[in-house]
Parts: sequence; C-alpha cells; structure tokens
Amino acid sequence: MLLTGAGSGIGRATAVRLIAEGATVFGVDRDETGLAETGRIAAEPVAGGGGRWIAHRADLSGEEAAAGVAAAAVAELGRVDALLNVAGVLRVTPMESLRLDDYRDIFAVNLFAPVVLCREVLPHIPDGTGVIVNVTSTAATKAHPWMTGYAASKGALLSFSISLAAELAPRRIRVVPVSPGGVATPLTADKSTYAGIDTSWYARTYPLWGAPGRPEDIAGTIVFVASDDGAYLNGVEVRVDGGSHS
Ligand SMILES: NC(=O)c1ccc[n+]([C@@H]2O[C@H](COP(=O)([O-])OP(=O)(O)OC[C@H]3O[C@@H](n4cnc5c(N)ncnc54)[C@H](O)[C@@H]3O)[C@@H](O)[C@H]2O)c1
Repeated sequence: MLLTGAGSGIGRATAVRLIAEGATVFGVDRDETGLAETGRIAAEPVAGGGGRWIAHRADLSGEEAAAGVAAAAVAELGRVDALLNVAGVLRVTPMESLRLDDYRDIFAVNLFAPVVLCREVLPHIPDGTGVIVNVTSTAATKAHPWMTGYAASKGALLSFSISLAAELAPRRIRVVPVSPGGVATPLTADKSTYAGIDTSWYARTYPLWGAPGRPEDIAGTIVFVASDDGAYLNGVEVRVDGGSHS
C-alpha cells in the first residue's frame, strides 16, 4: 500500500493500524523524523505490527516529485493494492491578505500530488480489488471561513475522486473520498495560525464530544474503506465528522 502523509496525524495512525493488520505500507512524508516515529510506534509490541513498514522521505510538491514517489513505490512493492492520499497542508488566511501563491502551494500538495499519484500508480493497481482513498475534508462541501484555499483544494479533490471513480469502475478499481471533520493533529494545533481569527466559529462545530476527533477515528474509517468490507463503497464521500456538519 502506498500511503502519503505517513509521518504525522491521520497518516501515522493509518500506517500503524495497517501494519498491525499485516499490511506492507510504503509510507511517504517530507518529514523524516516523523516517518521514523511512525516506524517506531508501529514496531511497538502493543501496536501488534505484523506487517512491513517502508519509510520514504519525499516532498510531494511538483509533478516530477510526485511521479518519482510513485515510481519508487512501484519499484518496492511491484503491485499497489491501495493508494491512500493522506498528506495535506492547511493555510488560514483572511481574504484581505490572501496571496495567490498560497493557493498554488496548497493545491500542489492537496490536489495535484494526489492526481499525479493516481495517474502514475494506476497501471500498477490490480483490477477487481484495487482502491484509491483520497482524504478530503468537510471543508470540501461545508463553510470553513478563512480557509478558502484549503476548502477549494479539498472540494476539487472531492470532485476529482467522484469522476475518477466512474472512470475506473470498468476496471473495478474503487475511488473513495474520505472527509474528516476537525481532528486533533499538528495540522490544526498551531494556534499562531489563527491569530486575529474568531476560532469560536470552529469550536461550535463539535457537538459529539465538544472537541475534535482523534486521528485513530479517521484511520479506522480509511482502513475500513480500503478493505474488502468496503467493497461496495465507490465514488461517494465518506464524511467522518462526529456529526459536526449534519
Ligand atoms: N486535522 C484535521 O482537522 C483535518 C480535517 C479534515 C481533513 N484533514 C486532512 O487529513 C489529512 C492529514 O492531515 P493531518 O491532520 O493528519 O495533518 P498532519 O499535519 O498531522 O499530517 C500531514 C502530513 O502530511 C505531510 N506533508 C505535508 N506536505 C507534504 C509534502 N509536500 N510532501 C510530503 N509530505 C507532506 C506532513 O509532513 C505531515 O506529516 C490532510 O489531507 C488534511 O487536509 C485533516
């Protein structure tokens, strides 16, 4: 399995869960220390690690870089049973101070990298059982003020996934966008990002526990969607948000 964003948060929790269930995980991230920590956690006896962990440090920004990651994964794995696009970046920017370069940076990671990985890995995904999971966000379809670039990138990834699912259906390769709501990870933890912004707007959107979800909650859904138990899930947004956007 090729998993991006494996060095932190949801990607790390997904890697640990997959390895515990016996999968071989080719984990990609630009953060080498984060990858090492994922490998360490996955190897702990309590994690149950029956699978195999292959760490691959790479920055996914740029077409060549993303294509290089796909080539490295194929060289290592041969067949790619599942492509799990989890890596992502968030920028919080009021419209007044927004720079178009912010959009370009966000789109490079959140949209273009998954698109290039899908294209490059596709010949190596098995017909009948292959699956692509693209991690989008509730921001794809629900208002997330001050995150317009992030929301637009996730909305585009959602649309891309729905159309690609129809395109790949004749090969019986599934494409499923998974949209988390707020999750406690480093992505959202940096409070300085929210300077000058009314964060109470976001605090109001956690009805279930009054707090964001855990990375493991999203990892469980990703693993389910990618497994045989998710065999009839295709081209539909799986929203995992604790009811925050019902
Ligand atoms: N945390 C949330 O509240 C939340 C909500 C909805 C969706 N998501 C999505 O879930 C996914 C995982 O986010 P997370 O919360 O675990 O964040 P995180 O910051 O903990 O993990 C993201 C990982 O992606 C990696 N990454 C970022 N840019 C990269 C690049 N150019 N090349 C290689 N690796 C790169 C980072 O190094 C990091 O390890 C993202 O796509 C995010 O948009 C998160």
